[in-house]
Amino acid sequence: MPKSVYLLAHPAGHSLSPVMHNAAFHHLGLDIHYAARDVPPEVLAETVMALRDSAVLGANVTIPHKVAVMPYLDRLSETAQAIGAVNTIVNRGGLLIGHNTDAKGFTRALTEVGGLHLQGQVIVMLGAGGAARAILYALLQNDVARVYLYNRTTKKAAALAQNFAPPGKVVIVTEPDLRAALAECTLLINTTSVGMAHDGMDPDISPLPDNLLPERGFVADIVYRPARTRLLRQAEAAGLETQNGLPMLAFQGAESFGCWTGRDAPVEVMLRTLEQALYS
Ligand code: ATR
Repeated sequence: MPKSVYLLAHPAGHSLSPVMHNAAFHHLGLDIHYAARDVPPEVLAETVMALRDSAVLGANVTIPHKVAVMPYLDRLSETAQAIGAVNTIVNRGGLLIGHNTDAKGFTRALTEVGGLHLQGQVIVMLGAGGAARAILYALLQNDVARVYLYNRTTKKAAALAQNFAPPGKVVIVTEPDLRAALAECTLLINTTSVGMAHDGMDPDISPLPDNLLPERGFVADIVYRPARTRLLRQAEAAGLETQNGLPMLAFQGAESFGCWTGRDAPVEVMLRTLEQALYS
C-alpha cells in the first residue's frame, strides 16, 4: 500500500521539502509520496489527528506550527522537548511522536560537508529566533568552548541563553562588544533571516556591520537564497571558509527521512535536488 508524508505549513507554497523528499523516496524505490498541506492554525488539531491513519508515515511541521503542534502529540523525543519545538512527526501505529531534526541536521551539515569539528570552537551566533533555538542546543550538545550570542533585541538573546545554557557558556553581547567577540571567534553563524532574498531579489544586506568580520575560521549562514549572501561574499573575500544553509536543509531532511522509514537517507541525492531546484 502506498504511504504518505505531509508537510504542515501556512502558507505551504514555497517549500523545497516535497521535491527533496520525493527525489529521495524515488531514488530508493520506496512507494511513499510527500505532499505539502496549507494548514491554517484553526484546522491544525484535526489535521494532526488525521496523521494517525495507517497510510500516513508522518509529517514535517514548519512555520507557524512548530510549537503549537506539541500538545496534539502523544510523545516527544528528548531533543524536541529540550528545543521546545517539533519539526518532524512519526506515526507509530496510531501513536504520534514529535521529533526535532534541526539540531542534528545543523551539526551534520557542518561536520560532513564543512569538515568542521564543533568541539572547542569559540562561536559568535547572530539571532535568537526559532532557528537559533535548535542551533544553540546543537552547539551546547557538541561541547563548544563558548557562544557569544548577539541579537538585535538583546532581551530575546538573554531569554534564549537562560533557557539552555550552563552558566558561562553563552555570553550575551551587544554591538560595542561585537568586534572583540569576532576577533576571538573561530566560527560565526547567522541564524537570522537578514540577507535572504525577497521576491527573487538579493537584498544585499548583512547581519553584521560592514566593517566587521571574524578574523579567521568559518562562517555559516542559514540562508540559502541567494546561494551566497552578502555576509558569505564578504567572508569569502576576506579568505574565510563559508557554508550556506542548503546543507542544513538537506541534513535535517535526511534525519526526518530516517525517522519515517528507518533507512539511511540518500543525502547526496537530496542536496543535489535542492541545488537544481534553487540554482539552475
Ligand atoms: P526564525 O524562526 O526563522 O528564526 P524568527 O523567530 O522570526 O524566525 O527570528 C528571526 C531572527 O532574525 C531574530 O533573531 C530577529 O531579531 P529580533 O529578535 O530582534 O527580532 C532577526 N532579525 C530579523 N530581521 C532582522 C533585521 N532586519 N535586523 C536584525 N535582526 C533581524
